[in-house]
Amino acid sequence: MSTDVESFFDPATFTLTHLVTDPTSKTCAVIDPVLDYDPKSGRTSTDGADKVIARIRERGLTLGWVLETHVHADHLSGAQHITAALGGRIGIGANVTNVQKTFIDIYNLTDVAPDGSVFDHLFEDGETIEIGALKGHVMFTPGHTPACITYVIGDAAFIGDTLFSPDYGTARCDFPGGDGAVLWDSMQKILALPDATRLFLCHDYLPNGRALMTHTTVAQQRAENIHLLAAADGESYAKMRAARDAGLSMPVLILPSVQVNVRAGQLPPAEANGVSYLKLPVNRL
Ligand SMILES: [Fe+2]
Repeated sequence: MSTDVESFFDPATFTLTHLVTDPTSKTCAVIDPVLDYDPKSGRTSTDGADKVIARIRERGLTLGWVLETHVHADHLSGAQHITAALGGRIGIGANVTNVQKTFIDIYNLTDVAPDGSVFDHLFEDGETIEIGALKGHVMFTPGHTPACITYVIGDAAFIGDTLFSPDYGTARCDFPGGDGAVLWDSMQKILALPDATRLFLCHDYLPNGRALMTHTTVAQQRAENIHLLAAADGESYAKMRAARDAGLSMPVLILPSVQVNVRAGQLPPAEANGVSYLKLPVNRL
């Protein structure tokens, strides 16, 4: 039976959030939710996450998990808003501790413990994940960041920022701890899944104005992914990746996003006046 997945698209950051449901127990998981953030005003809003919450309530589901594929650098996580409304535990890959250490240093964060304890659960490579009666497993798929993981649940795999749509290619590897050769190996792990496995994307950038694509398959990625077709092995891929990354600017929301996302989506603690402030490290990225 095909895994029950519904997808939601955030047009501001081109992010896809996925809702995975076990029809037997009516338990669900939300993967990579977004907290809307306007960098011009510094205002957050919950419109996107509220649509996911409304859908879960409409279907009468119980939320078991909010699952992050990695510490996102292009949007703030909506995990806190969703678990505040619906309960559930927030999970991420165990190597998030490496990412926390890096950014605790860059931002000089004094309130974040670099042990992953702000998350409810840290997944190890190969660990089983249960969504009600639905069982899946976690694969470590680093390269874009050191802590990226893929959730394989039945015929669906949630691959985060590893492979993008076949006509867009693959994820950048120039954030701290990123590595093109490591990403190549992770992509091979994903491509070793059965051909018909549906690969759910974390982003779709709608290249050339085409319609939204929420997922592809292993077979389609093998046949059509422009970056896989352009590279013969990990070494040539890493070279190509580094050359492309050198021409990319930082994502608009990287500085607001990462300091929130290493806190599992919590804003920094409010100061004495009740206001939460984000930091901008100058000349560090
Ligand atoms: Fe990412």
